[in-house]
Amino acid sequence: MYSVELRGATKRYPGAGAEPVVALDDVDFAVEPGEFVAVVGPSGSGKSTLLNVLGLLDDPTDGWRLLDGTDVTELTVGERTAARKESIGFVFQDFHLLPTLTAVENVALPTAFDPGDASDRAADLLGRFGLGDRLDHEPSELSGGQKQRVAIARSLINEPAVLLADEPTGNLDTETGESILAEFERVKEEGVAVVAVTHDPLVEEYADRVVELTDGVLEGGIPGRDPPAEGPSDRDADAALRPGER
Ligand SMILES: Nc1ncnc2c1ncn2[C@@H]1O[C@H](COP(=O)(O)OP(=O)(O)OP(=O)(O)O)[C@@H](O)[C@H]1O
Ligand SMILES: [Mg+2]
Repeated sequence: MYSVELRGATKRYPGAGAEPVVALDDVDFAVEPGEFVAVVGPSGSGKSTLLNVLGLLDDPTDGWRLLDGTDVTELTVGERTAARKESIGFVFQDFHLLPTLTAVENVALPTAFDPGDASDRAADLLGRFGLGDRLDHEPSELSGGQKQRVAIARSLINEPAVLLADEPTGNLDTETGESILAEFERVKEEGVAVVAVTHDPLVEEYADRVVELTDGVLEGGIPGRDPPAEGPSDRDADAALRPGER
């Protein structure tokens, strides 16, 4: 069973002018537990939209969405929020840290654990990201890369089944980026499905699979499905996998 799965997902934004923007165009995508997928593609190709839809932060215009094999398309807003808090860790492209909370408070914020335990765990996570001496700093007192690491620590506080990260190494030097990726490997080995949007070749190196978005179209989002129709053998494989013929 996949940790997270999209079927025929389309996201259309009403255009300011005549034409709506098709940010996702009939996307099939699935990630297994313990798999690390990198999503690449040019600016505006729909990468953040894909993460938002996967992470239940935004709804597709059409299509199905499954979390741990359960169809979440028909959930109420409240049920969806609960499912998101329970199962999904999210690292935003622009961090979304609360400016009036300290690092350790930001990390502990989404937690379902009791507050004392949560700040211990938050401090522990921050320590793992080299921020043990910045626990009580507010975001305005942190560098860009430090804020990014606080955001990554926060995404892990609830031990999510799915970790979604938008440019997680975007502001980091190689060494710090590698320490983040090592942490992603560790959670991946614990069975977490990790999806990272990236322009960083290092992230692609760590990933089990790299998929590319072009103008909202995603090729090869589900391994073994929709292979490129090249030789006759590929066409046979494609036919063998067509729904209804399986
Ligand atoms: N709320 C919105 N309303 C209208 N159009 C939007 C909205 N959000 C995104 N878009 C459009 O959808 C397309 C995909 O945007 P998205 O943010 O997913 O791109 P991206 O691949 O993450 O780009 P980048 O690499 O620059 O972060 C873009 O053309 C963008 O202008
Ligand atoms: Mg983006």
